[in-house]
Amino acid sequence: MTYSPAAIAAYFDALGAGEWERFDRTLGDRVSLAMHTALLERYVRPGHRILDVGAGPGRFTELLHHRGARVVVADLSARQLELNRETAGVRGFASSVEAWRQLDICDLGALDATSFDGVVAFGGPFSYVFERRDKALAECVRVLRPGGYLLLSVMSLWGTLHRHRAALRDMPRAAMRTIIATGDLTAETDPTSRHYCHMYRAAELRAFLAKPGLEVEQISASSALATGVENEFITAPEQWEALLEYEATACDEPGYCDAGTHLLAVVRRDSPAA
Ligand SMILES: C[S@@+](CC[C@H](N)C(=O)[O-])C[C@H]1O[C@@H](n2cnc3c(N)ncnc32)[C@H](O)[C@@H]1O
Repeated sequence: MTYSPAAIAAYFDALGAGEWERFDRTLGDRVSLAMHTALLERYVRPGHRILDVGAGPGRFTELLHHRGARVVVADLSARQLELNRETAGVRGFASSVEAWRQLDICDLGALDATSFDGVVAFGGPFSYVFERRDKALAECVRVLRPGGYLLLSVMSLWGTLHRHRAALRDMPRAAMRTIIATGDLTAETDPTSRHYCHMYRAAELRAFLAKPGLEVEQISASSALATGVENEFITAPEQWEALLEYEATACDEPGYCDAGTHLLAVVRRDSPAA
């Protein structure tokens, strides 16, 4: 599968506001939101200038606002950018947004080198760019100041199959074999969908991110125990608090890394030696 920015933009233009709700559907999705949020809480400080690339309608743009960051919002999809701007007005996070830019993560040339304290690429831009992922990574690193962090999440092969396990039953065996072998969801492997992306294995993500000048500080699952579990499983606030504690530990276990719908990664751009 080769990267098609037009096809990806068309998919997200058509999806519209549906993107906002993706973290509310199952318990595992809610845990995933909590694990993504925990990374923002750990790495984003008040006053940080952050690039939120592939920002979609702004679920994390809003959280960056609450962290006191100044945010440049970037997305390939004109409709997602428009939704982000509208949502910012309605939910009150527009004051933290410096600009909304229609940009491809593979070409951030409109943004100055070393001008961001952090880059957030949650929800899969690195899953949509296929063979251009090295270029996307190089661009994110270029705009990051030395010592700054790239926080990213990509679609995970095994956790996604677990979450959407009806496909294991319903999809033709040859197509599923190809998906498992390549990690690619394409028009050929799934003619019923226009959602083309690459789903990573944890080891593959680690190898991809192992570049000179970068330190991979964390690779973990977006959910472990709760992946694919329905919301009704947890009924009381104290059960939810306890579950998040267990999940935070489980998601960091090497044996659970591939179990979430997404893989989370924290990458630091090295500072020049003093
Ligand atoms: C699954 S949504 C994630 C939205 C948000 N970051 C979140 O996690 O809720 C993926 C977003 O990435 C955008 N995107 C996909 N490929 C991109 C690319 N090459 N450059 C910039 N944005 C991209 C899509 O348009 C979409 O808005």
